[in-house]
Amino acid sequence: MFDVEKIRYDFPMIRNNPNLIYFDSAATSFKPQCVIDEVLHYYEYTNSNIHRGDYDISFEVSKLYDDTRKQIASFIGAKRKEEIVYTYGATSSLNTVAINFGNKFLKPGDVILTSMVEHASDILPWFKAAERSGAKIEYVPFPSNGKFDLDAYEKCFEGKNVKIVALPHVSNVLGYIYPMKEIARIAHEHGAYIAVDGAQAVPHIKVDVQDLDIDFLSFSSHKMLGPSGIGVLYGKYELLDQMDPIFYGGGSNARFYPDCSLILKETPEKFEAGTPNIEGVLGMDQAIRYLSSIGMDEVEAYGTELSDYFISRLDELDTVEVYNHGSKAGIVTFNMKGIFAQDAASYFNKQGIAVRTGNHCAKMLHEIIGVNETIRASFYIYNTKQEIDRFIEVIKDTTLEKCVDSIL
Ligand code: ALA
Repeated sequence: MFDVEKIRYDFPMIRNNPNLIYFDSAATSFKPQCVIDEVLHYYEYTNSNIHRGDYDISFEVSKLYDDTRKQIASFIGAKRKEEIVYTYGATSSLNTVAINFGNKFLKPGDVILTSMVEHASDILPWFKAAERSGAKIEYVPFPSNGKFDLDAYEKCFEGKNVKIVALPHVSNVLGYIYPMKEIARIAHEHGAYIAVDGAQAVPHIKVDVQDLDIDFLSFSSHKMLGPSGIGVLYGKYELLDQMDPIFYGGGSNARFYPDCSLILKETPEKFEAGTPNIEGVLGMDQAIRYLSSIGMDEVEAYGTELSDYFISRLDELDTVEVYNHGSKAGIVTFNMKGIFAQDAASYFNKQGIAVRTGNHCAKMLHEIIGVNETIRASFYIYNTKQEIDRFIEVIKDTTLEKCVDSIL
């Protein structure tokens, strides 16, 4: 049974900021007490390096660090824990795939199929991979509502050597859940691989990499109740195993010799040179346990309930334009007619409401939806309909004059 009041009590940011309505969880989420306690416990009781110490606290932390790989593998339905590579966040995961896959598999004339919906972190690494390899970037055409058109996507393969498809599972601006199982099936039928940006999906919906049959999945801990600076790259083992690491150093090699040769450790350790974000891994473990205790079906249902409710309330107002009707995953993008998005956000901020405005790092999306600057309200498990009602009252009360006054 989903009990939002009980959940809210678990979040110090909510208890400590009674006048704040936080609608920016797509940028970063709040952390429950169990995550904070885990990170503090590491610093206060078990602070040591992993896999390098011959003493109890290092053994203890190493075990937790290694066990978290199993926990993550089970959370996303991976076949084995060796398919989980720790990174510094989704951006670092996405760069790792683009560099490693590009170096290993891309050749001149190959196509990297992506879209103009992309967040910078999912497209700029592929621009660079194309530049290095001589591959070409091509874009899946999207209709102006930003929804996914499977027929248009399938046509992109005709007469082309598409080597990899790089798409988000959930758009960070529009909140649409794209049909990843069909997208992956079509990619594979045409001999292509698929790399998925899961930054906005994994925190909000049940993602099962084996069921979806995706080759790579990138996500961050900080958007799913965990600490910042830690993320995950999932990859099918046989693909990860063929790829070379970007970074070399301690922890990722078995031996090295005066003739400059080296023997790397097995996958995934070969990708994890240097002391990692140990406390981040331990905190992420708690975040995943917390989400699992609620159940991802419940998390998704609640996100959809809040998005649907907010959109239905916005639709009552003729001062507002909504850009993502039917979006799920707790993301609603809109504008107030005749008011610059950031000016509106300044007024909302004065009323204690935190939203993000601008292009949300998806700097080509305006080519599809025809608008550059929008207001994005993004919800998570600790938000309520009462908060949305309060926001609607603020929106009703918003005028251009009040917005201008709020920035002076
Ligand atoms: N990628 C984050 C967002 O969409 C920061 O807001």
